[in-house]
Amino acid sequence: MHTSVTTIERFILDQEDRYPEATGELSNLLYDICLATKIIAASIRRAGLVNILGASGIQNVQGEEQQKLDILANETLKNCLKHTGRVCIMGSEEDDDIIPVPPEYPVGKYAVLFDPLDGSSNIDVNSAVGTIFSIYRRVSMHGRGTVADVLQPGCKQVAAGYVMYGSSTMLVYTTGQGAHGFTLDPTIGEFLLSHPRIITPRIGKYYSVNESNFPRWGKGMQAAVRGLKGDLTEGLNGVVPKNSRYIGSLVGDFHRNLISGGIFLYPADSKNQRGKLRLLYEASPMAFIAEQAEGSATDGVNRILDIMPEMLHQRTPLVIGSREDVGFVADTVRQVGERNSGAVSQPAL
Ligand code: AHG
Ligand code: MN
Ligand code: MN
Repeated sequence: MHTSVTTIERFILDQEDRYPEATGELSNLLYDICLATKIIAASIRRAGLVNILGASGIQNVQGEEQQKLDILANETLKNCLKHTGRVCIMGSEEDDDIIPVPPEYPVGKYAVLFDPLDGSSNIDVNSAVGTIFSIYRRVSMHGRGTVADVLQPGCKQVAAGYVMYGSSTMLVYTTGQGAHGFTLDPTIGEFLLSHPRIITPRIGKYYSVNESNFPRWGKGMQAAVRGLKGDLTEGLNGVVPKNSRYIGSLVGDFHRNLISGGIFLYPADSKNQRGKLRLLYEASPMAFIAEQAEGSATDGVNRILDIMPEMLHQRTPLVIGSREDVGFVADTVRQVGERNSGAVSQPAL
């Protein structure tokens, strides 16, 4: 049997070796998250069976298994992190407030944020869902951690990643030394290196956006999306016209575009004036990965990683993916905005 495969543990350790001052705490925190996502993956794989097994009486579907999967994913992540002594505070899309480490456990130097199950409406139709995570070094000096530890701009992330529970389970993460992808081998329960140093194409094949919101976008965004299709009647500079792909799961849509090249957009609109996606759990971690893969991410005006969050559940418009395509959208929004009103003050409208 050949043993040249690289497990995620070995890969993380190799990267840590480049930093003699590293204590191993971040590496261990990344393993904790891997374990949580393997447990979530197992629950998702059985999701469609729970009712069948319950009805047949083989499986008792009381309690945990009846929980919605996003609650189960949330509890799994919290349970895998809270006792480790590596975390001082957590934040989750599923919890209104910051999540302290229970008093019986020690605290560590990291703040962890997550979207436990992204695209959860896809579960019922057996499509891709994911988990997104983001790690910051704490800024409070001691104690249990505070809201200041999680309200940091994305450029301060020390690591970020996502796991996509698709036809196979894949984990993509970065610690600022490139973005790397691993595929879960279910027979041995290990993530194996499958996509080292992902570089996303400069110009993509796809655009991914919920176009049913088109009538509610500003003129600049409407012109930009028409431009992505090849319609340049506004007299704008062009991009290579694109094909459309949208499954309504950020992880799934982002992952496809990262590998094949493309742009994902969730603009602000007249109903969601600050956009829909959350800065801390969705936009910032994905922006870190995109930039590490030589792509980019903006809210239409500002680089996502520069935005200073004011609230835990803050939303943001998001335009992310292949660098030239993101540039085209930002330029178009600006040009049309200037043409119409002299100045643009609202991002991505
Ligand atoms: P979540 O399931 O974590 O709430 O996230 C859903 C998000 C994101 O994954 C996706 O890109 C977007 O919502 C889809 O929204 P629309 O249905 O409005 O297109
Ligand atoms: Mn989400
Ligand atoms: Mn979610």
